[in-house]
Amino acid sequence: MTLDVFEWFSIIGTIAFAVSGAIVAMEEHYDMLGVFVLGLVTAFGGGVVRNLLIGVPVTTLWSQGLLLKTAVISIVIVFVLPNAWIYHWKKSEAFFDAIGLAAFAIQGALYAVEAGLPVSAVMVAAMMTGIGGGMIRDIMAGRKPLVLRDEIYAVWALLAGMAVGIGPMRAAWALLALFAATVTMRMLSVHYKWRLPRRKLHAYGSFDASAAEEGEGNMNMYRVLFVCLGNICRSPMAEAVFRDRVEKAGLAESIEIDSCGTGDWHLGKPPHEGTRRILEGQGISYEGMVARGIRAEDGERFDLLVAMDESNVKAIREALGNETKAEVVRFLSFVPGSRLADVPDPYYTGNFEETYELISEASERLLAHLLETGEVSAAAK
Ligand code: 4NP
Repeated sequence: MTLDVFEWFSIIGTIAFAVSGAIVAMEEHYDMLGVFVLGLVTAFGGGVVRNLLIGVPVTTLWSQGLLLKTAVISIVIVFVLPNAWIYHWKKSEAFFDAIGLAAFAIQGALYAVEAGLPVSAVMVAAMMTGIGGGMIRDIMAGRKPLVLRDEIYAVWALLAGMAVGIGPMRAAWALLALFAATVTMRMLSVHYKWRLPRRKLHAYGSFDASAAEEGEGNMNMYRVLFVCLGNICRSPMAEAVFRDRVEKAGLAESIEIDSCGTGDWHLGKPPHEGTRRILEGQGISYEGMVARGIRAEDGERFDLLVAMDESNVKAIREALGNETKAEVVRFLSFVPGSRLADVPDPYYTGNFEETYELISEASERLLAHLLETGEVSAAAK
């Protein structure tokens, strides 16, 4: 019975992580081989790390034909899936990751129990199997590993390992309950932002206390958030165009770029068809972009909030108050002598070309401004 359950957990975890690895690879614009490599590494990395730790040969990987096939088929499906489905999936990214985490934590724990290891080793095996693949995925994709981010992550795998290791949670129903509990706890952590206590040290030589306080990602990053009403027309266009200019200037590592809307009608939707058409015509990627609403922490996390029009400025102030760390500016204020003060909303005007021309000009001016004022250094790549 245990073995059946064990196999089910292996299959669920493999699918969830293979899919997440493949999607991250596609978001990072890896080619087809890269998508397969990242999908497979994410699906099997945790088990390999666990085997190394508990002293079981990693070559057992090659006897997992069913799981390898499962992973390959999952990756192929993701690779051919329409973008709209993937955008939809992205909203559930944390959920799939939680399923992978819980399934592999329990599978890893059962594996260590079968090997006759003590509770401490069962816990480590659970944790490493649960978090290992995702960690390798994020590191290979150049992202900050999910496990090191804010909300409680690895602890749930450790606790699941403890429950299995101590003994009473080994019947099939108990393991299923443990699985559900682990997924639920992880999702509650994400939703309510549960964190472990932390103690902050400012990095040696850094006097940018606010960046150190921020504590996430590259401390020397300058962060820009484009804001409009619906986050489907103007601000996603600005995000994509500005990112394109920043990448071409070789400054992708120095500037973080995002966009959001003050209204919530289109949350989770990809950019408007008109914005997509313009970006495609310019050869500018909008991959992985979906609408999100403005959040309370945006005012502290970002350095610059770039509003498309005056009503966006007001809505930002209503949402975040007047005291934000981030400076709030209108985008066209970077264009000296601009005939317009606001970027017209093509959702109403239908004129996406005009919006692109204004956003293109303002993006170049904004980048020049950041370089001139020393907010971003051309050398700091
Ligand atoms: P955006 O345009 O603010 O440039 O994304 C709009 C998109 C949707 C709506 C309004 C403006 N709307 O009302 O749904």
